[in-house]
Parts: sequence; structure tokens; C-alpha cells
Amino acid sequence: MSRTSTDPIPPPPTDPPVPLPQVPGPKLEPFTANAHADIEFLKFLGSPEDKDSKVWKVNIDGHGPYALKLFLFNSWESLQCHGNSLTKPLAKPKFYDGYFDPFNCECRVYGRLKQECREDLAVRSHGYLLLSPQQEHQVTNLMKSHSDGPIVSASDELDGYNFWGRFEEHRGHPIRAIVKEFASDGGEGFNSTQVEQLWEDVQDLHRLGILVRDITYANYIGGKLVDFSRAWTMYHPCFDWTTPRQLKSNLQQDAQRLIGLLYTWARVNREQHDAEGYDFEPPKGLKECSLAEDDCQDVDPGSYDWHKWEADPEATEAFIDKALF
Ligand SMILES: Nc1ncnc2c1ncn2[C@@H]1O[C@H](COP(=O)(O)OP(=O)(O)OP(=O)(O)O)[C@@H](O)[C@H]1O
Ligand SMILES: [Mg+2]
Repeated sequence: MSRTSTDPIPPPPTDPPVPLPQVPGPKLEPFTANAHADIEFLKFLGSPEDKDSKVWKVNIDGHGPYALKLFLFNSWESLQCHGNSLTKPLAKPKFYDGYFDPFNCECRVYGRLKQECREDLAVRSHGYLLLSPQQEHQVTNLMKSHSDGPIVSASDELDGYNFWGRFEEHRGHPIRAIVKEFASDGGEGFNSTQVEQLWEDVQDLHRLGILVRDITYANYIGGKLVDFSRAWTMYHPCFDWTTPRQLKSNLQQDAQRLIGLLYTWARVNREQHDAEGYDFEPPKGLKECSLAEDDCQDVDPGSYDWHKWEADPEATEAFIDKALF
């Protein structure tokens, strides 16, 4: 498929703002009626190396604190690489954006958690906001003090080498942000009393059709996952059109990442655990699910019944059959 200027990625509609993303499946509502708000930027919470976003502690319309995750832009061609396990290409750039863009991936997860009344499975989200040009300017200037000289294009050309990663296809698009519960100011990812629950939560996410695909210590706060920027949520084309081998390896990835990080965490904290009389054991069933040669007893997120949430399931099936690819 070649880049087409006749079908670019549209900016999020703002009048009135709609739940996002605009592809079939779960969506996140705007945080305010017009998706805009007064934002007081208090403190940068992430690290300059964060690849997908910049997270700030903020007050919004005089209330807070909240965590506000501001998402960088991605060209649809780079999103196409995120979808490289697909056995056939999607028909339009906007479908890559809808199913693989980090902001949209998180919106889809939070939308599903809300549908299923399982917002307890993650650090909570309250909705999305769109930044005004003035707010973007303000936070960009604040961010400059947190990195070793951001790469900002001197020219008007949008080539991806600018602070928010804009390409020509994002000209005029506002920065999209997700408002979350402010979880902590640098506390621990999890503690020994939460270890069993971590695997139970991941399995519950799988039951709800969500594959996290980015389980790391930094993505936990207080025992809950906070980062879903790589997640696939049913309906997602990757559960449908991937080779069985690739799908199996993707499905095992969450278990493998979790067990890997738990062993590292146990090793790093061994002295403290010894002093507390805590003896690390991997959560029940996790080891089996993480072994490549074993058939995982875990649930396949691709088997989630997403039809029940669709206003017109037949129309969605027709879209998947005839328009998505
Ligand atoms: N709700 C929150 N409350 C407090 N701190 C947070 C919150 N959300 C994120 N953070 C901090 O910001 C960091 C980056 O957040 P997050 O992992 O969501 O972004 P990211 O850019 O996708 O990161 P990565 O580059 O690892 O993919 C977290 O590791 C955490 O330190
Ligand atoms: Mg992260």
C-alpha cells in the first residue's frame, strides 16, 4: 500500500467531541463536554526516554492532582510496522491509526474496562482531552528543561523530527491526552503482597479481550498497570489475521514478560525479602503459561465476545469482512 493524500488520518472531531477511537470496538469518552479544559502543569512524571508519551502531574479546571498522559504522534507507516504480524494489510491509514496508535490503544483498553465495570484492573482513567495550541506551546517549553535539547524542525516541514513527532498527516491535529488518577510520585511498582494479584489481573485482562504486550516494572504503579499504549483489544485484526505461530508467541508474551520481571524483582530485592522473611514464589500457573513448549491454560483474548457491545453487530461484521482489509 502506498501513502495516499486522499485518505489521510483525520483529526479527532471536536464539535461535539466523540468517544475515541473511531474504529469499531470500545472507546474512551471525552473528559469534558468539549474535550478542552484549563490545565495547570505541575510536574513532569515520566522520563525523557519515554517513547510514546509525556506524563505530567496536573490540575484540571482547578481540581486535582491528576496524571495527564500526552501522546506523541506516529506516522501511519510506523504504525504499519506495529501491525507487521498481520498476514494481510489494512485497507486505509486511518485503520492503522485506530488499531495501533498508542493513544487509541489506551482508549480502547479503558473503554473495555468501563464496559465491563473492571476499572479496578488498571490505574483509572477519567477520559481524554485535546490540548489547545497555547497549551501545547506552554508544555513544550516546560518539557525543554527535561531533555537534552529536543529535536525541533527549524522549517515548517513536518517530517517527524519535531518535539511531538508530527508528520505532514498530523498538521493541525491537537495533542491528545488521557486523564488518569494520579497514582504516586515515584512509589514502588508493586510489593510482595501484590505478586499473586498481578497474574490474576493479567488473566482477567485476557478474559476481557485485552493483550497488554508491554509488561514492565515501570508500567506498574502500586500493583496496577498504568501503560496500555501497545495493547490489542478485541475486536482487533491481529487476533484474526496472524499466523498461528505468531499468535501463540504474542499470546505468551504477557506471561513471559511478567515472570521475567518478577524473577528480576525478586533477585534485586532479595536482601530485603530475606530480612522480611518473604520467600518469592511465582504466582500459580504463570510459569506453565510462560513456557513456549506448553499449551497455555490461560484464556485467549481473541475469543472474547465483543459483539455484545456493538449497536449493530452485523454491520460491524460486514465492515471487518469488506472494508477493513
Ligand atoms: N497515573 C499516574 N500516576 C503517577 N505517575 C504516572 C501515572 N502514569 C504514568 N506515570 C509515570 O509516568 C511514566 C510513563 O508513563 P507510561 O508508562 O504510561 O508512558 P509511556 O510513554 O508509554 O512509557 P514507555 O516509554 O515505557 O512506553 C510511568 O512509568 C510512571 O512513572
Ligand atoms: Mg511505559
